Amino acid sequence: MVAIHSSLPRRQFDVVVVGAGGAGMRCSLQLAQAGLSVAVLSKVFPTRSHTVAAQGGVSASLGNMSEDHWEWHMYDTVKGSDWLGDQDAIEFLCREAPNAVYELEHFGMPFDRNPDGTIYQRPFGGHTANHGEKPVQRACAVADRTGHALLHTLYQRNVAARTQFFVEWMALDLLRNEDGDVLGVTALEMETGDIYILEGKATVLATGGAGRIWAASTNAFINTGDGLGMAARAGIPLQDLEFWQFHPTGVAGAGVLITEGVRGEGGILLNKDGERFMERYAPTLKDLAPRDFVSRSMDQEIKEGRGCGPNADHVLLKLDHLGADVINKRLPSIREIAIRFGNVDPIKDPIPVVPTIHYQMGGLPTNIQGQVLDYVNGENKVINGLYAVGECAAVSVHGANRLGTNSLLDLIVFGRATGNHLVSEHLEKQRAHQDLPKEAVDKSIARVSELENRTSGEKVQEVGDAMRISMQSHCGVFRTLKLLNEGVEQIEEIAERANHIYFKDKSKVFNMARQEALEISNMIEVARATITSAAARTESRGAHALNDYPERDDVNWLKHTLWYSEGSRLEYKPVQMKPLTAKTVEPQKRTF
Ligand code: FUM
Repeated sequence: MVAIHSSLPRRQFDVVVVGAGGAGMRCSLQLAQAGLSVAVLSKVFPTRSHTVAAQGGVSASLGNMSEDHWEWHMYDTVKGSDWLGDQDAIEFLCREAPNAVYELEHFGMPFDRNPDGTIYQRPFGGHTANHGEKPVQRACAVADRTGHALLHTLYQRNVAARTQFFVEWMALDLLRNEDGDVLGVTALEMETGDIYILEGKATVLATGGAGRIWAASTNAFINTGDGLGMAARAGIPLQDLEFWQFHPTGVAGAGVLITEGVRGEGGILLNKDGERFMERYAPTLKDLAPRDFVSRSMDQEIKEGRGCGPNADHVLLKLDHLGADVINKRLPSIREIAIRFGNVDPIKDPIPVVPTIHYQMGGLPTNIQGQVLDYVNGENKVINGLYAVGECAAVSVHGANRLGTNSLLDLIVFGRATGNHLVSEHLEKQRAHQDLPKEAVDKSIARVSELENRTSGEKVQEVGDAMRISMQSHCGVFRTLKLLNEGVEQIEEIAERANHIYFKDKSKVFNMARQEALEISNMIEVARATITSAAARTESRGAHALNDYPERDDVNWLKHTLWYSEGSRLEYKPVQMKPLTAKTVEPQKRTF
């Protein structure tokens, strides 16, 4: 049994970063290079963070292979977001993109090259030339392992800059004082089962998404929404959680990601009649329409009986016409994944694919500097000492639907911006650690002790499975109010059961049962936020496609959702339609 003392061991740092994916490590690099003491906690070895699964590329309007401009990238991102993205943040993202990518190149990231030595760029869904005229080549790629290369590049740089990594550590709770300032976290060292207090003058959440709240997901098992759960328990709102992206091409039955880069290289989707059906749904961009569009089209084909296989439950991704040379050079991991998980060699046969949960567009509300925001009396209010970056943040550049390759870009642009803000402003004002009130720690200890000491109740796996099955069946590609409202009831019941979970094995060393029990309490907050926010939004926008309300409703719903855990309360705040310097991209009908 783990002994939990009121006087836990304590360590102090300038900044505590929770999560060692692309966002956490890009941020920590900025901090460590400025000479600050930085602790980066990660449940896994940093290069195994989920960023490793990003395959196809990172977007930037370099114009190496076809004419491009950041304004075109901005237009596509706003339109891709179905106008729910904040246009100031989107302008920042797209303007900064070329510099952010060149910086990676100079860090040593091994991008694929064109014959003239410039970075190779492939087309990707929703990225267009001249406001939708035709696909543009904007995704800077390292074959189909771009996230893998990014993580290794950032890890090496961080080691050189003396970032302190806490590998196989799980953050448990945020520590806040009476004023609501965040002073650090409690954290579990998985190897020993001991709990520590890690104090920071600032804390950065970079914990990625929570795709594991669904039964079928492209996400790693570590994606349990820990940062979101910690924040929700601490009274901080979660924004726009009704918007979850289904990636069109997960391997049918296995969920493993097949990059959109396959279609970028010329792969096409076929129904059972061998028809390239995307030509009907998106006559201009076809298979390279944004993901929400393609996923819905695939779902429609399957529902209308044009699915493939004995159960007519998937479609086919054909790429044999690209030839063995292109597949082996540009898509080597895809070939391997298809052979291992889809039982087909794509040089000869098409890959069976279905839309699969992939990315969480919502998260912790932040400004462009990564500061987490509450919303009080109609005004954004900075939470002192708390930052969020990457998939766990809603800055919000992805709005209701993210374009492929904008996620890696989000990590590096806002990871860097957050690091810069911490160096130049926050740590100037906050030169010393604040006093850590005993109650803040006691609350976390009480939560963990209660779980630790329970000897009977609900089994972790059963509660987790119930949540995943309920989310999968009530909150899919197409939604109905009936299903969503049933889902709200079910998830609240499951949340109640989660208050009574227990695990038998109380041993200390690498006890995964303890970790899974702790993760469930985070996932359940995200599931509650998702289903409650979705049931309330009576329109269709981006990834939220509601059969009862099939149209976007800008009069009533051009606004962000904020969900508070206590009482499952919802609030709304306006979308920032005014960019920093560019002209507003005015709402219009989304056709491709
Ligand atoms: O399709 C992909 O390669 C995934 C990239 C992304 O989610 O941005």
